[in-house]
Amino acid sequence: MTRDEIRQFLEFYQDLGVKTIFERGSALQAESLPELVDDLNSLLPPLPAAKATPKPPPPTAPPPAPMKITPPTLIPLAPEGDTMQAIRADIGDCRRCRLCEGRNQIVFGSGNEGARLVFVGEGPGADEDASGLPFVGRAGQLLTQMIEGTAAKEGIKILRPDVYIANVVKCRPPENRTPMPDEMEICGQFLFRQLLAIKPKAICALGSTAAKALLGTKEGVTKLRGNWQRWYDIPVMVTYHPSYLLRPYNQNAKREAWEDLKKVLHFVYD
Ligand code: URA
Repeated sequence: MTRDEIRQFLEFYQDLGVKTIFERGSALQAESLPELVDDLNSLLPPLPAAKATPKPPPPTAPPPAPMKITPPTLIPLAPEGDTMQAIRADIGDCRRCRLCEGRNQIVFGSGNEGARLVFVGEGPGADEDASGLPFVGRAGQLLTQMIEGTAAKEGIKILRPDVYIANVVKCRPPENRTPMPDEMEICGQFLFRQLLAIKPKAICALGSTAAKALLGTKEGVTKLRGNWQRWYDIPVMVTYHPSYLLRPYNQNAKREAWEDLKKVLHFVYD
């Protein structure tokens, strides 16, 4: 890789909003991406303006100074040929954030790794932490009913194992609190790699944490739901989290969630 390619590579991820990178094979070697770009920029000559014709160096110009930097080993957002197995291996016995302290198990995700539809929740609860599988508690049972019940009613032949289900964070937050921004960012890189490896036709974001992680918005579910959003080029439908729908006074939200799901299922499977 040339120096300019390295610089463009780092700036690309910076533009995507990636702030931290990790060195492959070392658990806690996080580097600040903006700092790396700054370091690199201070060592390199400025990039030529986009349309400027490159000028040949004057005949007396001194030879360029030898490169002093060692390119960092990066895990790109999605390494070429990335697989779920490689992602799981990179997560390892993760200690990258404080959520590792209270977890029993990492909940990686489950379902069809070639799924056309992926559901993204917030983070494991007690049942998920105990079983190692996402959405197996009360909210999970409702999610299963929603997927299978709506599909059956709409004449779409899919069951829960046909889709893939994952969360923004893979370790249970203490007292089921909402994941913090740094936890979402650190763990989100693995969710993003999973999504890029699966390449679904659509993503269904369950609740505001999933919406925030995928869309980078603070907008609430009520505003976002019902209309297609995008994560890179993949259509995203935001809808209510099943836990919210379990609260007895949310009848209207339940109807809206079913409408959202119908829309997603027809888009993906028709
Ligand atoms: N809630 C979530 O967001 N994810 C789970 O896996 C379970 C409950």
